[in-house]
Amino acid sequence: MLTEQHVTELLEKMKDPFLHKTFKETGGIEEILIKEEKNHVSVKLAIAKTNTAEQMQLQQEVVNGLKELGAATVGLRFSQLSEDVIKKFQPTKEEQPSLLSEDSKTKFLAIASGKGGVGKSTVTVNTAVALARLGKKVGIIDADIYGFSVPDMMGVEERPKLRGNKIIPVKRFGVQMMSMGFFVEDNSPVIWRGPRLGKMLNSFFKEVIWDDLDYLLLDLPPGTGDVALDVHNMLPSSKELIVTTPHPSAAFVAVRAGQMAIDTDHDILGVIENMSFFESKVTGEKEYVFGKGGGDKLADVLNTEVIGRMSLQQPYDEEDVFAPSVYQENHPNGKEYQKIAEKIIEEYGEK
Ligand SMILES: Nc1ncnc2c1ncn2[C@@H]1O[C@H](COP(=O)(O)OP(=O)(O)OP(=O)(O)O)[C@@H](O)[C@H]1O
Ligand SMILES: [Mg+2]
Repeated sequence: MLTEQHVTELLEKMKDPFLHKTFKETGGIEEILIKEEKNHVSVKLAIAKTNTAEQMQLQQEVVNGLKELGAATVGLRFSQLSEDVIKKFQPTKEEQPSLLSEDSKTKFLAIASGKGGVGKSTVTVNTAVALARLGKKVGIIDADIYGFSVPDMMGVEERPKLRGNKIIPVKRFGVQMMSMGFFVEDNSPVIWRGPRLGKMLNSFFKEVIWDDLDYLLLDLPPGTGDVALDVHNMLPSSKELIVTTPHPSAAFVAVRAGQMAIDTDHDILGVIENMSFFESKVTGEKEYVFGKGGGDKLADVLNTEVIGRMSLQQPYDEEDVFAPSVYQENHPNGKEYQKIAEKIIEEYGEK
């Protein structure tokens, strides 16, 4: 003889197909009626989502189970669980281990300067490419929200794709990147201020599916403004490259950027003197068109060293590869960036 207790015992063990909790836990058994004379059982179950393939599957299981218990016919209805119950049992989404969490293995390297136009973005892009050439997994966050330039310098024309509500960064030369430039139409100016800017930066860390990075480079906006400070404060720990030209006044301004790094507990890894000299193709002679000594002076004040000096020179023209600011491996500046990459790896104690 089939009893209500038998039916309850059977249903209580079955699981809600969406919440993966038993009906005992969700309280989803709403009604059990047994018509003894016809051996008919009718059941009403509340589940998290109705009218789905999963509901069909569950329906099969319930009917089969009840028939095995001895029911001749089964009537089954479904209803929707209340929002409260669903919320209570909703499986918490597996949080991707955040780049910014303590146990993140990603090493951060911020690229800063005192003034604009000294070559920060060029240094960021080429250092990233050089690290990738050494087999490292590298990403760039273009934290210069107003003055983004990384996609352009890398010759990237595609936009990132979305997976669910997360962003897949664009990759070129083995470097993944994220930039405000991907989200702006027709090079129009970014007019966001304050909190919205901070939120954008935050999403670059948290809403992007970065691929298990060894290094994440950050191209900071010039100077020591709000965004630069935000980024400094956001990173758990970071090393920093300070870029300057050899002109003493540029170096003088760069000291402030260095000081900001120090004040926010970031290690200064070294100074890069960009546009150090011009080398004549004809005579091979070096001319110090932007003056001399700025890098050394800056390194001295910040108690660090100059780890690279770049000549004033464009990358070679290439017909089939368009990337306006990426130096080739055999280019003198490309070789210099390779040395910087090795130095970085060494500094992070990976060798
Ligand atoms: N070593 C170099 N030789 C020749 N041109 C260079 C060199 N380094 C940078 N440039 C050029 O100088 C300009 C400024 O460089 P870049 O954009 O990297 O500087 P930045 O410090 O990032 O500027 P901003 O403050 O505007 O972000 C660019 O047009 C770049 O191509
Ligand atoms: Mg820049």
